[in-house]
Amino acid sequence: MAGAGFYKQICSACHGAQGQGAGNVPSLAKGPTQQAKPGEVMWYITKGDLSNGMPSWAGLPEEQRWQIVSYVQSINTATAVPSMGNGSPAPGSELKSISAPPATPPFIDFRDEKPGTVRKITVNDLPKPFATQSAGNGPHVVPRPEGVWPQALPNFKVQLYATGLENPRLIRTAPNGDFLVAETEKGDIMLYRGITPDGKPQLSSVYASGLNKPFGIAFYPAGPNPQWVYIGNLDSVVRFPYKNGDVTASAAPQHIADVPGGTGHTTRDIQFSKDGKTMYVSVGSGSNVDDPDTHPAEKNRADILQFNPDGTGQKIFAYGIRNAVGLAIQPETGDLWCSVNERDALGDNLVPDYITHVRPGGFYGWPWWYTGPHQDPRHEGKHPELRDKAIVPDVLLQPHNASLEMTFYEGKQFPAEYKGDVFAAEHGSWNKATRVGYEVIRVPLHQTGKASGEYEDFLTGFVLPSGNPWGRPVGVTTALDGSLLVTDDGSNSIWLVTYTGK
Ligand code: HEC
Repeated sequence: MAGAGFYKQICSACHGAQGQGAGNVPSLAKGPTQQAKPGEVMWYITKGDLSNGMPSWAGLPEEQRWQIVSYVQSINTATAVPSMGNGSPAPGSELKSISAPPATPPFIDFRDEKPGTVRKITVNDLPKPFATQSAGNGPHVVPRPEGVWPQALPNFKVQLYATGLENPRLIRTAPNGDFLVAETEKGDIMLYRGITPDGKPQLSSVYASGLNKPFGIAFYPAGPNPQWVYIGNLDSVVRFPYKNGDVTASAAPQHIADVPGGTGHTTRDIQFSKDGKTMYVSVGSGSNVDDPDTHPAEKNRADILQFNPDGTGQKIFAYGIRNAVGLAIQPETGDLWCSVNERDALGDNLVPDYITHVRPGGFYGWPWWYTGPHQDPRHEGKHPELRDKAIVPDVLLQPHNASLEMTFYEGKQFPAEYKGDVFAAEHGSWNKATRVGYEVIRVPLHQTGKASGEYEDFLTGFVLPSGNPWGRPVGVTTALDGSLLVTDDGSNSIWLVTYTGK
């Protein structure tokens, strides 16, 4: 369990190797921590209790905090739990519906998600900060009950392409049609080839291992015969020599550039400009809302950086982008787009995550402003000169959705109206009282290459009526035959979506 390693590194110094506690430091192996809901423990460790000696762990990536919470809550029961580490639901109990009040449109929760439903959030819809309490409602991921399956519109078929992965994250299609998948925690890049008639890979292979939290994957140069595959590690960009057909890396990785590592958001995505002259690398913030003016660890973070493809010439391409997990190049215009996780702890319906094209030199608000000229109350009075510079992103998504990888659909299989649209994976909320996200969305561009602010539910059903999710979409990519592949680090699998309506 990944949480065990983090616990040892971060928590054991005070709470003891077995969570037994010592002196004024409480035991985690028994007492309140074992009785609390995972969300409550998450909330507590995120805030901390500084005046009593418990640090705030808000600076650790959310994912890492959840792994620690799962680990800590398993300490006293470590020998008795089944393989998922968080218990199996009693048969049928997950199918009983929760009774939380309905969401107020345009904001929704998982119960409202339905393939084909179009949504639009505008700046005028935003509540005031702290209109509702900040929730600690992390996912308790349960095994997928038999018969439960992701939902798409009629005429789309969903198949289970691959199972048994370990924490599959970003997925990208090579020019020859192979799929590379980052297994971030394990440090591996997996390769999958082909789609059999029953929707399975023809071949799978470990392409590379021993990487440091790999996430971004990019082939270079563009065209049918790339020579390199670039990988975004936590603190560096590396590249492997590559030729079509490779199933394992043919040489050790070359170091291309350092990027800021440290605590906080760990995903570094990579894209190359259409002319091949610029490499873009997204680097998320180290914290929820620390002010870079007074926190040197935030230098060159919450930015999209640019480099020459050889790693020289680092510059800031755009800034104030809290955590651009997914980058994509719009194939017609060559514009860079991104999919962004906004900040937490301002209430259920703030701050919208977003998908947007990125203006060179653009400022997107973090941490002093959000969604254009709205000041973050935790930075009252700071940087008034940036107020009118803060850009309102193109598509506002549900706050706390956790929008991850995005891709432009250039396939020929789906109906013509999908051509050029964006697909994006919404990993799902923790900071909202009733869960939202846990779906794949489509951003229709209506063949204009521009967003209208609308998005649409595309692939749903990853949360059970009980509110517990069994799956969490992370990555999306288009296969050469136009199918869509979706990685899911809740059920550790890859889903295949095909259009059957022709
Ligand atoms: C510097 C020492 C220190 C570190 C490091 C530390 N804690 Fe704590 N923790 C404390 C203290 C002291 C308390 C008691 C605070 C109080 O009195 O309210 C506490 C309380 C807690 C509680 C509440 C327990 C209860 O019974 O009320 C939890 C849960 C917890 N810590 C989890 C963690 C986790 C998880 C980590 C690692 C990410 C961690 N702590 C790291 C010192 C620490």
